This record gives sequence, C-alpha cells and structure tokens, in this order.
Amino acid sequence: MAASHLLLLAPGLLLLLLLLPPPPPPHSPQAAAQARVFSVADYGAAGDGSRYDTAAIQAAIDACGAAGGGRVLLPAPGDYLTATVHLRSRVVLEVAPGARLLGGTRQRDYPPESSRWYVVLAENTTGAGVTGGGEINGQGGAFVITPNAQKNIMVSWNVTGDCQGDECRPRLVGFLDSKDVTIHDITLNQPAYWCLHLVRCDNSVIRNVSIYGDFDTPNNDGIDIEGSNNTIITDCHIDTGDDAICPKSGTGPVYNLTATNCWIRTKSSAIKFGSASFFNYERLVFDNITIADSHRGLGIQIRDGGNVSDVVFSNIKMRTRYYDPSWWGRAEPIYITTCPRHAGYKEGTISDVRFINISSVSENGVFLAGSSHGLLRNLKFKNVDLTYKRWTNYTGGLYDYRPGCQEMVKHKTGGMMLEYISGLEIDNVNMRWSKGNLKGWDVNPLLFRPSTVDGLSFHDWKSLDVQ
Ligand SMILES: *[C@@H]1O[C@H](CO)[C@@H](O)[C@H](O)[C@H]1NC(C)=O
Ligand SMILES: *[C@@H]1O[C@H](CO)[C@@H](O)[C@H](O)[C@H]1NC(C)=O
Ligand SMILES: *[C@@H]1O[C@H](CO)[C@@H](O)[C@H](O)[C@H]1NC(C)=O
Ligand SMILES: *[C@@H]1O[C@H](CO)[C@@H](O)[C@H](O)[C@H]1NC(C)=O
Ligand SMILES: *[C@@H]1O[C@H](CO)[C@@H](O)[C@H](O)[C@H]1NC(C)=O
Ligand SMILES: *[C@@H]1O[C@H](CO)[C@@H](O)[C@H](O)[C@H]1NC(C)=O
Ligand SMILES: *[C@@H]1O[C@H](CO)[C@@H](O)[C@H](O)[C@H]1NC(C)=O
Ligand SMILES: *[C@@H]1O[C@H](CO)[C@@H](O)[C@H](O)[C@H]1NC(C)=O
Ligand SMILES: *[C@@H]1O[C@H](CO)[C@@H](O)[C@H](O)[C@H]1NC(C)=O
Repeated sequence: MAASHLLLLAPGLLLLLLLLPPPPPPHSPQAAAQARVFSVADYGAAGDGSRYDTAAIQAAIDACGAAGGGRVLLPAPGDYLTATVHLRSRVVLEVAPGARLLGGTRQRDYPPESSRWYVVLAENTTGAGVTGGGEINGQGGAFVITPNAQKNIMVSWNVTGDCQGDECRPRLVGFLDSKDVTIHDITLNQPAYWCLHLVRCDNSVIRNVSIYGDFDTPNNDGIDIEGSNNTIITDCHIDTGDDAICPKSGTGPVYNLTATNCWIRTKSSAIKFGSASFFNYERLVFDNITIADSHRGLGIQIRDGGNVSDVVFSNIKMRTRYYDPSWWGRAEPIYITTCPRHAGYKEGTISDVRFINISSVSENGVFLAGSSHGLLRNLKFKNVDLTYKRWTNYTGGLYDYRPGCQEMVKHKTGGMMLEYISGLEIDNVNMRWSKGNLKGWDVNPLLFRPSTVDGLSFHDWKSLDVQ
C-alpha cells in the first residue's frame, strides 16, 4: 500500500524536485567549485561564432551562482560570441582548451556606462574567476579604423558623451570591487582597449595568464591593477602594444602587489606605476622578469600627488629600444619620475626603491627625476649592469616627461640623469658603453645639477668601454 502510494506520487515528486530551490551551498566555496559544472551547451549556446550566446552563458552563470557557485564551462570546440557577461560570486568561468569566448564589437553589446564596458565583468563578487586553458578574445582588430605601423587609429564610442577622447572602447576582463579573485591558465587575446583590469579588489591571484595585443594598437594595456590590495601576478606572458603591468591609483591606494616570473614585450612600459596616481603605492615587488625589446623597462610615473614607498625590482633582464615617438617612452631601462601633471597639482614623493640584480641593454640611459616638492628619496642600485648601445635609427637626445610637466625637452643623452633626489646608493654598478654606434650620446655616465641632488653614495661603480 505504502509502496504503490509512493509510486503514484513519484512523477509529482520529480516535478516538485525540479521546482524546489537548489540545495544550500556547502561550507567550503572550493568544494562548491569542484562539485558543480554548468555547461553553456545545456543552456542553448551555439558556439558557432556568429550567433550571440550571451543569454545562454548568462543563464549558466546565474544558475551556477544561485546554486552556491561552481564552474561555468564553455566546451570545445566552439567560438562563443557574446555581449557583456556578468560573473557572480563563487562562479569560475572555464573556457576549455580550443574554445574561445569572443567579445561583441557593437556598442549595444555593452552596458550603457563606459565604466562597465567589459566582455567579462565581475562586480562586487567574492571568489569569482576565469580559467580553463582556452581563450577570451576581444576582436580588437575590428576596432582599428586605419591600420598604421606607427600607431593604429581606433574606433571611438565617444558619441554618447559618457567617455571622451579616443579612449572609448571596451576592455576585455574586469573585476570591480571584488575579493578572492582568481585568473589562471587562460589566454587573453586581442583586447580592443585595456586587457585585464582589477579595480578596488582585495586578495587576487593572476597565474599563468598569456596576453596578446596588437603591437600597433594604443591603450591595449596588459594587466592594470587599480586601487587594489594583496595581488599576486606570476608566470605571465605579455606581448602587447601598451603598458604591460600597470598599477594605478586613480580610485584607491595600491598595497602589496607582487609580480614574479613574467616575460614581457611592449611598445610602451613593461612595468609602469601610474600615471593615475592620486593615492599611495606601498610594498610592491617585481622579481624574475624578462623584458624584450620594449620602449621602457621599469617605470614609476607619478603625476597626481600620490606617494610611492617600499618597492623592489630584482632579478630582471631587459632590452629597451626606441620606437615611434608617438608612443610614450624613449628607450629608458629605468624611468622614475614624479612631477605635477598640471600647474597646482600636488607633487608625490617616491621613497625606498631598490634595484637589485638588474641587467639591461638599452638605447637610452636611466632617468631619475623628482620635482622640487616631490623628491626621490633613498634609491638603491645593487648589482646592476647597464649596457648602452644604439641599434635603431630613431632620433635620441630628448628627455620625455610626458604626460604633462615639461613634456619633451631637448637634452644630451647620458648614462644616468639625476634630478631632485635625496639619497641614492650605488653598490656594484657597471655601465658598459658599446663603442660601435653611440651617435647622439654625450658619453657622460652621470648628468645632474648638484643643486638638486644630495646624499649620493658610490661603492664599486665602473664605467667601461666595451666592443
Ligand atoms: C556594487 O556595489 C555598489 C556599491 O554598493 C553598487 O552601487 C553597485 O550597484 C553594485 N553593483 C552590482 C552589479 O551589484
Ligand atoms: C571622439 O573620438 C574621435 C576619434 O578618436 C576624436 O577625433 C574626437 O575628438 C572625440 N570627441 C570627443 C568629444 O571626445
Ligand atoms: C598554463 O596555461 C595553459 C593554458 O593557457 C596550459 O596549457 C598550461 O598547461 C598551463 N601551464 C601550467 C604550468 O599549468
Ligand atoms: C587597501 O588597503 C588600504 C589601507 O588599509 C585601504 O585604505 C583600502 O581601502 C584598501 N583597498 C581595498 C580595495 O581593499
Ligand atoms: C600587506 O601585507 C602585510 C603582510 O602580509 C599585511 O600585514 C598587511 O595587512 C597588508 N596590507 C593590506 C592593506 O592589506
Ligand atoms: C623565472 O621565471 C621563468 C619564467 O619567466 C621561470 O621559467 C623560472 O623558473 C623562474 N626562475 C625562478 C628562479 O623562479
Ligand atoms: C603624500 O605625502 C605627503 C607628505 O607626507 C602628504 O602630505 C600627502 O597627503 C601624501 N599623499 C597621499 C595621497 O596620501
Ligand atoms: C642577487 O643575486 C645574487 C647572486 O646571484 C643572489 O645571491 C641574491 O639572492 C640576489 N638578490 C635578490 C634580492 O634576489
Ligand atoms: C631607418 O632604417 C630603416 C631600415 O634600415 C629605413 O627604412 C628608414 O628609412 C630609416 N629611417 C631613418 C629616419 O633614417
């Protein structure tokens, strides 16, 4: 009797089960992430690269989020064309090897506010991420109006008035106001604008991420860490046109950023602090980094009154060369500057910066310039090998203070230019002058006006001619 009653009830129960809310999330988010996989194929994604799969991907993300978290799988093979998708807490987007998530190229594919123009956007999330071995592709080529080997002319979506100038294009992946962010084992390819952007995040890991941007496209930064704390970047490969790893303090301070084991090539700065710099930067470490043929190597570019302190650059090999002057940079291996962007702006200071175990081959010298109220304090160079050599035929002989300040100033090129510094320790530093071709150089190892520099200490410093 009981048994047949149950049997009779069974179809109803099944319906009931389907209608029931999902079970409560288990205690550990990690357990949830491993437990549940939501394939976008089950939500109707076509993966044919021409139909938009936005609704299917978003439905899978929302179901995954509602279930307490897990993975949203984009299976291979497949090209999943999408408008902006919004990640949820504890949802990790997993793009399988051989699958691609393609960002839409129409303005209506993105939210109304330009601050939310991302192909993948996580806002106010905890434990969201991106992984999977596949690729997220911004179709940046579709945003080029006129290809130009010096610098491409790009589409601008500035007609709405929501953003201005020619920097009105969607970014690729953004995490805003989020915690416990993980981005690993993924390729981020051809962003239309900035590639990977963390804004006011805390506790983020970016590991084994490959980033490719068009070498001629402006503003396709690699990784921008804005106003975020406790960020680890490791084992990354970045080959792009604009700044590769770029901490910014436009909307908050940057504390505790570590970047290690990376390979970088860019037509701009490999590492660049700023230029947005209203808040402070503290405790940043860059270790074991290879920089190939970039326009600048290690850069700190403070313009808005924020202060920088406690920074280490160690075990870094680099080659820096001139590219077209329409790009910021003049082949400096090390470029540390602070000055007011506009008259009346505050001047930040840059203190306690160490360069340890660095070797460079470069077409320009080291540039260390504070300003009268924003000094560079306590810089230390230890085990640094600087080779100066010319191999392109771009014109040298300019100091580049852009953006703002004195812009471009005609000046002889030397080994190290020093301006507004209080405390510089040189310990085992070799300058090697490759005599073959040094046109445009005043072969002067140090260029400075004594009135702006004090506290210099030299130990084991050599300036040598080499072949
Ligand atoms: C994120 O939080 C901020 C501040 O609480 C709020 O203004 C914004 O609407 C939230 N965004 C989302 C997508 O929940
Ligand atoms: C909009 O972008 C175009 C193309 O880059 C640029 O020429 C123009 O000055 C911009 N207009 C505004 C209002 O920002
Ligand atoms: C790095 O990520 C790629 C996919 O982007 C993957 O094929 C490779 O195995 C990963 N490397 C390591 C060491 O996990
Ligand atoms: C980072 O830490 C600083 C100092 O504690 C704090 O002011 C700031 O709000 C933190 N930012 C985030 C995004 O947690
Ligand atoms: C930075 O890291 C240190 C050491 O791990 C930690 O004590 C401090 O709270 C961190 N700062 C922020 C703002 O999270
Ligand atoms: C330095 O980084 C490279 C990857 O760029 C890696 O292969 C190597 O193992 C790292 N070296 C150390 C000492 O961690
Ligand atoms: C930078 O340091 C100066 C001098 O200590 C201070 O007045 C200023 O407020 C600091 N800037 C920020 C953004 O904290
Ligand atoms: C610099 O290199 C030396 C010699 O290879 C090594 O012993 C030392 O640990 C390195 N310093 C740092 C900060 O990595
Ligand atoms: C620089 O060299 C390249 C290749 O040799 C040549 O095409 C170009 O005209 C030269 N440019 C200048 C400014 O001399």
